[in-house]
Amino acid sequence: MDSLLHALINKKQADTTGQFYKDVTAGLKSTPKRLNSKYFYDANGDKLFQELMNCEEYYPTNCEMEIFTQQTADICDVMIGDGDDFDMIELGAGDATKSTYLLKYLLEQKADFSYLPIDISANVISYLNVTLPVTLPGLKIAGLNGDYFDMLKKAAARSNRRKVVLFLGSNIGNMPVSDAEGFCRELRNHLSPGDMVLIGVDLKKNPKTILAAYNDKEGITKRFNLNLLERANRELDANFNLAKFEHYPMYDPETGACKSYLISTEEQDVKIGKENIHFAKDEYIYMEISQKFSVMQTNQMADGAGFNPLNIFFDSKKWFIDAIWLAE
Ligand code: AVJ
Repeated sequence: MDSLLHALINKKQADTTGQFYKDVTAGLKSTPKRLNSKYFYDANGDKLFQELMNCEEYYPTNCEMEIFTQQTADICDVMIGDGDDFDMIELGAGDATKSTYLLKYLLEQKADFSYLPIDISANVISYLNVTLPVTLPGLKIAGLNGDYFDMLKKAAARSNRRKVVLFLGSNIGNMPVSDAEGFCRELRNHLSPGDMVLIGVDLKKNPKTILAAYNDKEGITKRFNLNLLERANRELDANFNLAKFEHYPMYDPETGACKSYLISTEEQDVKIGKENIHFAKDEYIYMEISQKFSVMQTNQMADGAGFNPLNIFFDSKKWFIDAIWLAE
């Protein structure tokens, strides 16, 4: 009885007024149906993404890790430049595993800098604020919890030091190309001449290698996609039956777009709060894009946004780059 009472008290009211509900219902009422992959990352999704990064087929994290561990000094030397003090601002810091390599080296070099990780997860930020000063004694850190550009503004209001913005993990690929270009222009508008961006980008490569990374044998990517439906069940009082949706990833070598879809295996109705969503048999939900770029495309994107592409660091397979762009 006691535990039932507990369960009843703890059962969260479905929030049918928030942005998540609005975006999910709007996306599923539109034609074609779509959901925003930024909602993949609840506590469960974070865990699945961690699993994905450790699976055999998902190469981008390993590639970028290799760049950060093998070329730490070269990357940091460009960031340090003439030695003026700076703020290192990371968009979507996560657990900061990769940036920790840079932070450690910068501290060893006695570089005069502060680390300002930005993340939409409050948990992530409080975790970094507490743990990083322990692993990296002497680190000046001020985590910012919120949207990238809101927090970038906050960071700019806080100090007028030179800025080095980190945007890693090919997160830029989660936008269609034209949105990515817009994002880079907006980023440039928040910066001043002399500021820098260190951006990680996954490159076009053998289509089979790319497709396999988004279609792993263990089915983690599939669970990662289905988790968004589960999250809607948990948080929005929805009743998706996960067994009636199939994961369909595809990669188009011509455009470099790697997209994933969930396909309704039969005609069905799904309830989300007060809404009813009808699915035809074989109807798809467009879930995510992970855009791949050529090196030339990234240089053009930099140029078009008002950056000068200064350096490019490759992994040994040349599958991934971290580029340094200088704001002009
Ligand atoms: C974290 C957005 C870079 O697109 O490769 C991994 C997310 N999706 N497997 C990516 C993801 C499916 C990942 N990013």
